[in-house]
Amino acid sequence: MSIEDKIQSLRNQLNYHAHRYYVLDDPEISDAEYDRLYYELLSLEQQHPHLVTPDSPTQRVGGAPLDVFNTISHSIPMLSLDNAFEDSDIIDFDARIKKLLETDADIEYVVEPKLDGLAVELVYVNGVFTVGSTRGDGVTGEVITQNLRTINSIPLRLFNNAHPIPVRLEVRGEVILDIPSFEKLNKQREQDGEPLFANPRNAAAGSLRQLDPRITAKRPLDMFCYGVGIADGFTFQNHIQFLETIAGWGLKVNPLRKLCKGTRAVIAYYRELGEMRENLNYEIDGTVIKVNDFALQRQIGIKTRSPRWAIAYKFPARQEVTQIENIIAQVGRTGTLTPVAIMKSVNIGGVEVSRATLHNQDEIDKKDVRIGDWVVVQRAGDVIPEVVKVVESRRDGSEKPYKLPDKCPVCGSHVVRIEGEAAHRCQNISCPAQLKEGIKHFASRGALDIEGLGSKLVEQLVDKGLVKDYADLYDVSTEQLAGLERMAEKSAQNIIDALEQSKRIPLDRVVFALGIRFVGEHVARLLVNHFGSLDALKKASYDDLIEIHEIGPQIAESVVEFFSEEKNLRAIQRLQAAGLQMKAESVVKGDTFSGKTFVFTGTLETMGRSDAEKLVQSLGGRASGSVSKKTDYVVVGRDAGSKADKARELGVTILSEDEFKTMIG
Ligand code: IVH
Repeated sequence: MSIEDKIQSLRNQLNYHAHRYYVLDDPEISDAEYDRLYYELLSLEQQHPHLVTPDSPTQRVGGAPLDVFNTISHSIPMLSLDNAFEDSDIIDFDARIKKLLETDADIEYVVEPKLDGLAVELVYVNGVFTVGSTRGDGVTGEVITQNLRTINSIPLRLFNNAHPIPVRLEVRGEVILDIPSFEKLNKQREQDGEPLFANPRNAAAGSLRQLDPRITAKRPLDMFCYGVGIADGFTFQNHIQFLETIAGWGLKVNPLRKLCKGTRAVIAYYRELGEMRENLNYEIDGTVIKVNDFALQRQIGIKTRSPRWAIAYKFPARQEVTQIENIIAQVGRTGTLTPVAIMKSVNIGGVEVSRATLHNQDEIDKKDVRIGDWVVVQRAGDVIPEVVKVVESRRDGSEKPYKLPDKCPVCGSHVVRIEGEAAHRCQNISCPAQLKEGIKHFASRGALDIEGLGSKLVEQLVDKGLVKDYADLYDVSTEQLAGLERMAEKSAQNIIDALEQSKRIPLDRVVFALGIRFVGEHVARLLVNHFGSLDALKKASYDDLIEIHEIGPQIAESVVEFFSEEKNLRAIQRLQAAGLQMKAESVVKGDTFSGKTFVFTGTLETMGRSDAEKLVQSLGGRASGSVSKKTDYVVVGRDAGSKADKARELGVTILSEDEFKTMIG
């Protein structure tokens, strides 16, 4: 088989399996098998770059960031929809249509979910995805092709099947983010101190309107197609046929569409979808009702901004008004304090709600929410109910502003909000609210690597009261462990041995294990190299810390706050008594590399990268993760990637592993 054929065959297989997975939700092969095909194609394309085409499955990510979005005029305007709120609106809509068509016969409608996302248009030329844009004002939209390419359910090339593909095909549809992905994204943003998205639609819109497609690529967006612009050389008879045809070409259409004859059937299905809504993992805010027959659609016609042949029948709001009786602070598993409104119980779309999240202090301040306020509360799908806004007209002056406490409601330790973060956090690592998560991190691979001490065991140890503090781990006996669920004598002994071994783990990993916010493995190493002992680190001031290269204000503040908590100092003291390393093993051995910055890239043959970095540091040099003009040496191992290229570009000295070893003697 020629390389060209091999590449084409891999692309066909990948397209087929991506369609099964992302569009049909019915995969035939494992993720690993898919990855294998993908990397085989990637590697062939890397060896033969001239064979790369824009519709290759490898081309979904990686476009360079833009400065601005270009705009584009839609060849046929993207219309909006009139809204219906009750059954009589639908009866009226149907009556208008019958009058226009001069008929008494039942009309065939298609009822489909009204997706709560962002409307976009995809243009396929000879089956290849070429331009994608937002709806914009309906006439002009923004070109977001690069971002749309990252959405796995959008085919980069249409399947050629029984229906030949139009020369030019414009399809419209809705880009959405499902609710679980939305929650995950917001959780991450909360951890990173970034502002939260109010709902999945805003998150989808924010993700699509990113100038950097690499950010869009990280958001698992999805798209359902429901409309058509130009379809050169192709005439569809009706909407259902259109949907089925484009589905055959590989585009994703919503499976919940239904053909309904007459308003009675339409309204019945509207109710059915209203019930299904609770269990969908994406948000819908109503149904869209469309005349099925395209000839009839043309006959009925459009108004300026919306068609006469379609209408949106919205679901009842998922918002209600109630009164806040109190606000409390809830401490999460990672120490975050979340303000929660305790409210007069209210029924929202069938569910009693008496608590709603206020997210964080900034949100409280921004919305100016006070105890005693009447507020709009929203519940959407499985999302935790939240306070949307205050009904200011109902204030009587007795409302009390709220501030999160400066002492943790669970353990009484001090609470801090680090500059640039949205969250307030309890600083005590042994706080009962965070102990389990903390210990899981403490025992994890990159930290103290206590093999066998996994989630389940940590839960039991803490729940049974055997561990109230990190150091308690070292007092647990084999008998106590063996007495726990699913724990044999042998595994109990293994854990005791692993705990014993962890006492030899070097200080930088001990520092990392403490779980100080913003102190990852790399920063822990920097700190230990600089201070040499935990005692010295404990006493470091903000100014001492900020002096260190790569330590910014956030890290410095976090470290100072951590060691200013009495309970943490006590925990550390007990860990020291248990026998953990509290001094760095190697103090600076020399100053051969004083003032020099090294970057290691690729796989080194005779030492691990972190060992090499330690060597450099022990000789007074600095190891960094990225190449810049300030880098002095880049040491290149096997399979080195873009860092080596960057070094060449910047004219930084490149060393082989052997040359590096000669330098260190
Ligand atoms: S059809 C001429 N179908 O609703 C028909 N729109 O209020 C116009 N939408 O801008 C659109 N789900 O963003 C249609 N199944 C669906 C829809 C849908 C959501 C959105 C779309 C449109 C807005 C109109």
